Amino acid sequence: MRIGILTGGGDCPGLNAVIRAVVRRVERGHAGTVLGFRDGWNGLIEDDAVDLDVEACRGLLPRGGTVLGTSRIQPFGVDGGVDACRNTLEVRDVSALVVVGGEGTLSCALEMHSEGFPVVGVPKTIDNDIAGTEMTFGFETAVEIATEAIDRLHTTAESHDRVMVVEVMGRHAGHIAAWAGLAGGATVTLVPEEPFDIEDVCERVRRRHDRGRYASIVVVAEGALPVEGTIAMPEPEHDRFGHVRLGGIAHPIAAEIRARTGFETRVTILGHVQRGGTPTAFDRVLATRLGVAAADAAVEGDFGTMSALRGGDIVRIPLEEAVGHLKVLDDDLWQTASVFFA
Ligand code: F6P
Repeated sequence: MRIGILTGGGDCPGLNAVIRAVVRRVERGHAGTVLGFRDGWNGLIEDDAVDLDVEACRGLLPRGGTVLGTSRIQPFGVDGGVDACRNTLEVRDVSALVVVGGEGTLSCALEMHSEGFPVVGVPKTIDNDIAGTEMTFGFETAVEIATEAIDRLHTTAESHDRVMVVEVMGRHAGHIAAWAGLAGGATVTLVPEEPFDIEDVCERVRRRHDRGRYASIVVVAEGALPVEGTIAMPEPEHDRFGHVRLGGIAHPIAAEIRARTGFETRVTILGHVQRGGTPTAFDRVLATRLGVAAADAAVEGDFGTMSALRGGDIVRIPLEEAVGHLKVLDDDLWQTASVFFA
């Protein structure tokens, strides 16, 4: 039996741990072989693949990124793309495909499944916004990186009595911002789920500084939005797949804080630093557990399913439960985070 694997969408720490786990399980647990498709769905469309075995996966566990490469190309967006994928699977004698990706890649996997493709999914994203699973690998790593950055910013901000606006990733959901803001003691955190009032943000900053020589840290998710009509936002750019290119909202926010409060303000945009480098131990373990479970589902022919974390266990759920809507911030967590806003 030959199992295919691809990684699609933005990369994420832990992808290589999934690849390694799938290879190990298929080869040692099921006496099968694994073929890795390069650059997401493009590898299937172009029949661009590499044989993977346990030897080839040595050293992968702690390595960030994905050795298979990734892209946002999807078969439905390419003329003849779906047929090309079908042909590749047939010619390569691949009986099941493990698709590791975020919302876009998994939605495509579900569509491919309804076209008869033998797919199983593994959820990944640092944003932690995939429905049906309690946590995605990569998220904890991103939170650690953001928290360390906030800790460092505290000391320099205190020395200068400054306001630091720290921008973290989080396109549609503020999980990274809320967790890192809570862990790092943010003065206030701004998330996509709750449009922010800039005057309220300034008031919190003033309150904090009025209490003495303090610094304030404003954590903002890249996808946060002001209450309509309050502050002007720059026109968003789009990438070639039509995705809005986020990043930079910290600048207009900092400018407003400076203008309204008079405090010296600085901006730090963490950007792709949050997505690069070695995964935390938790993310390595989660990625490995999901990879082993996906390999089993693929070998057993349980197609159209996704491995997910629920109540601490790895379970299989229908892909339908994971796509079509995003997992936004839990209200309880948000209320807890708000307790600590100035
Ligand atoms: O979806 C994960 C994510 O990291 C988002 O938080 C971010 O907006 C996006 O990817 C960035 O994508 P790119 O690597 O294409 O700039």
